[in-house]
Parts: sequence; C-alpha cells; structure tokens
Amino acid sequence: MRIAFSYAPGKIILAGEHAVVYGHPSIALTIDRGVRIKVQETAMPQAKGRGPTLRASGLGFAGLVRPGLDGEGPQVLRLALDKLVEMIGERVRDLDLIAESAIPAGRGLGSSAALSVAMIRGVKQYFGEVLTKAQESKMALELERLFHGSPSGIDHTVISHGGLICFRRDGQTPQVEPLPLSRPLSLAVGIAGPHGGTLKVVEALSQRAKRHPACFEHIFSGIASLVGEMKDCLLKGQFAAVGELMNVNQGYLNALSVSTPDLEKLCAIARENGALGAKLTGAGGGGAVIALVDEDAQSVAKAFSDAGFLSFATKCDTQD
Ligand code: PMV
Repeated sequence: MRIAFSYAPGKIILAGEHAVVYGHPSIALTIDRGVRIKVQETAMPQAKGRGPTLRASGLGFAGLVRPGLDGEGPQVLRLALDKLVEMIGERVRDLDLIAESAIPAGRGLGSSAALSVAMIRGVKQYFGEVLTKAQESKMALELERLFHGSPSGIDHTVISHGGLICFRRDGQTPQVEPLPLSRPLSLAVGIAGPHGGTLKVVEALSQRAKRHPACFEHIFSGIASLVGEMKDCLLKGQFAAVGELMNVNQGYLNALSVSTPDLEKLCAIARENGALGAKLTGAGGGGAVIALVDEDAQSVAKAFSDAGFLSFATKCDTQD
C-alpha cells in the first residue's frame, strides 16, 4: 500500500502581528514542534470515493472528520477537506489522512496553518507531485481563509518557508525576506489559555481602528518602525536589543487592547526571571506569550509552569 508522510512546524510571531494586516512588516519564525500527517488509501472499500477522511489527535479535538456540510467533525475541517478535493482533484476522495499535532490548538502558535500546509504536502507527496513554495503557499492560503477569514498570510507563509522571515503583504503579493541568524534564538513559550479567536480579535480591532483612525495608524507605524529595527538587530545577533523591542511591541499590543491580565502576568514572570524581553504572540485576547532568553530557555519555561501555566522551550536556528 502506498503511504506518504508529511510534516509542517508551528510558528510564533516575534513582532508586528495585527499591524501586518494593515500592510506593515512582521517577523515570524517556525518552532521545533508541529503537525505530522500520514496519508494512505482508505482502508475501508465502502469509504472509497467518499473521503478524504481526517483522523486527528492533538488539534483541539479528537476523532474522525469527513467532508461535506452534513459530514462528521468540526465544520471548518470538513470545509477544509472539501477545499482539498477542489484544489487537488477527485482522486483525493480515496484517501485517509491521519494527523497528529504537538502544537497546542487555538493559542496563536499556528496549528491551523501547520495543518493546512501538512495536508497539502502529504497529499501531493502521496501522488508523487512536487509543489514550489509559491504554489504550496497559494493553496495553504485557501485553507487558511476557511480558518481565519481574511488572514494577512504570515502564518502559512512562515510555515511553508521555514526558519525566520520578515513578511509584508504588498496588496495581494506577499513579500518574504529570510533572516539568517549567526546564532540560535532561544525562546520560552507560556500559554494563558485559548486565544480570543483570530477572526474575532482582528475584526474587533478593525472596528476600534475605524473609530480612531489617526491614533491607530500612529500605533501601527510605531510597530512598523520597531520591526525594522528588530530585523537589523537579529541580523547582527544583538539579542538584548531584540528583547527590548519585544517589550516595546507588547506595550503597543496592550494599547491595541489585545492583551489580557494573564498575558501581562506571563510577560512579568518572564522579565523577572531574566528574559531579554517578552510579548504576546499572534492575535491575543488569550493565547501565548513568548520570552526571548539569552542562553537556556528552560528556566523561564519552568517559571511559567511554576505559576500554573503550560509552557515549553523552543529554538530557532537558521544557520544550517
Ligand atoms: O492566528 P494567530 O493568532 O497566529 O494571529 C495571526 C496574526 C494576526 O496578525 C493577528 C492576524 C493576521 O492575519 O496576520
């Protein structure tokens, strides 16, 4: 029996979330945990042509998903399977996708984008077909639209690309600049609970921005300016300055009203325990905080868990 395996990592946004929706630059990186998928021809002859089915674990739900509006499993995943058939063809209906995620779902760590990219990679690999990064990204955007409405595209772009990138959306065209590092970035991630839902948080922010356009544009420009500075500091290996700029970014995110008391508490814990800087990552309204650490991120991750928050340490190394 033909079998294909695929993998796509999760991601964190180091700076510039929300402003990126308005055409400003943002910096993101992939983390060392992700979604694995096994693709095989359906084991049940009676299910042939009626799939694809998705068996998932660790994606915020466990169980079987079938396509079609009246199928089984969460609707957004059924729609995603329908979209896979639409993009890759009827032959996808004969397949079983078995997904296992090590990324906490709904915490701004890219679980939906990683699932999207891993599904596309797995199915294409099953058929022995190779996609360019641009083709993979275009298809992943179609799936991400189902999960997030009108995303900037940063999540699936960094996941598809891998490593550390500076991203900006120029109209519909994504601009991607890989950022090579001279030494690895060590980060601790603390999880405050489910985030407010990207679509909901982005929409509420856009309503506030419409009420106070000059003020919000001022904040977005401030974020754009710190992202530009952070890019230079990353390339020069000046991580203490990167940490300081993360703290500034957190101040702006608070001003945008996407932070929460738990996210602020996680930032304070990180800074008290020697982190170079800390901020929320992703949409906010809950979700996760990332802390940049000079050497070993385990001590900050432990401080997060000692305070009752789920946590893990991760590294980004773009030297190799
Ligand atoms: O889905 P999240 O939590 O990773 O947020 C994505 C980043 C935002 O800038 C808030 C939204 C977007 O589309 O870029």
